[in-house]
Amino acid sequence: MIYNQAFFDKGLSRLGTNALKWQSPDYMAENSVPLWVADMDFPCAEPIRKALLERADHPAYGYTFVGDEDARSLTGFWRRRHGLDFEAKNALMLPSVVTGLRVCVNAMTLPGDGVIIQTPVYGPFFNAVIESGRAVMEAPLIGDEAGRYSMDYAAIERHLQNGARLMILCNPHNPVSRAWSQEELRTLVLLLKRYRARLVSDEIHADFVFAPKRFIPIFSLPETPDNTVFLAAASKTFNIAGLQQSAAICRDEETLRALARTAHRAGAESGNIFALVATRAAYTHCDDWLDALMAYLRINQDVLRDTLAKELPRCIISPMEATFLAWLDLRGYGLSHVEIETRLRKHKVALTSGRFFGHIAGEGFMRVNYGCPRAQLEEGLKRLTAAINEG
Ligand SMILES: Cc1ncc(COP(=O)(O)O)c(C=O)c1O
Repeated sequence: MIYNQAFFDKGLSRLGTNALKWQSPDYMAENSVPLWVADMDFPCAEPIRKALLERADHPAYGYTFVGDEDARSLTGFWRRRHGLDFEAKNALMLPSVVTGLRVCVNAMTLPGDGVIIQTPVYGPFFNAVIESGRAVMEAPLIGDEAGRYSMDYAAIERHLQNGARLMILCNPHNPVSRAWSQEELRTLVLLLKRYRARLVSDEIHADFVFAPKRFIPIFSLPETPDNTVFLAAASKTFNIAGLQQSAAICRDEETLRALARTAHRAGAESGNIFALVATRAAYTHCDDWLDALMAYLRINQDVLRDTLAKELPRCIISPMEATFLAWLDLRGYGLSHVEIETRLRKHKVALTSGRFFGHIAGEGFMRVNYGCPRAQLEEGLKRLTAAINEG
């Protein structure tokens, strides 16, 4: 299979598959253009499809355990793509990254403890903390005039002084599209260490960092303590989020045992035959698909940047260093958040509301998912432009 521009341009019809992005009754009016939830409208790589078909062809679908080859494909991928070494025994397989977030919060803190998150951030970070009976401590990112965000170490330190026990980092960051630098991460790790607070790094977007930026795995820093956890998945990278498979990785045996115990008690264990088969294939045989995808996404970024510079000059797009999600600041148009949402609905384009990432930090912002065929992106941008300019 050749993964050229035509392959990605063609996209695929997802109607009739209960695709959340296309058919959610809450978000999608009829004939809307979906540029919201973070999966992509491209066919997955051929080895994944083949592996699933082959496995489906064997009519035994009973209980299955996670095998050595599952962890080996994960470690092999991270060594090959990110130059990071960790051992198979350091990985705990879980159903999804959100499961991992919740398991970490429950295993690494006590009820009532404070957990730091950097807003705006992926909405389930809030829920993982609040619904576990822990307290969210927001350390909002600081945005500059160009929409580039940086960490507020002083705010983090204040929370640490007030007893925060854990921080959940989004590396790279959804939605602001930052690929954190080595220096930024080192400063953060040293700060947390000083207060003996622990760190969970959600690295689900690791594979979407655009040159000249580089993805820096939290485990690659010599200063990172062994009891740090990072969460990984093939789901975003290879567009297989509906299969639900992830891993929590930790070098400290005691922490890993605590995570396993917590997951077990919640019945949140990995062992879906198809998820494991697809993930192994993804991690082993699909680098060419991923490289071609990144080249395609980069041109989508140009389309997004050029179109909005021309049609919506008061919109600030955060520099697109990472992910396939663009963070748009629409506050320059002087519309209320509700008014923006209403206009987008009227013009039939579905974006993710900034408020999903924090009510205050996301006010006046929208997130665009540009992981789709170019024609779909262009149509969505046309509608966005009309919604803001025409009302
Ligand atoms: C930062 C981040 N973590 C986790 C997830 C969800 O991962 P999963 O579907 O494995 O729960 C997403 C999805 O958008 C995300 O952006």
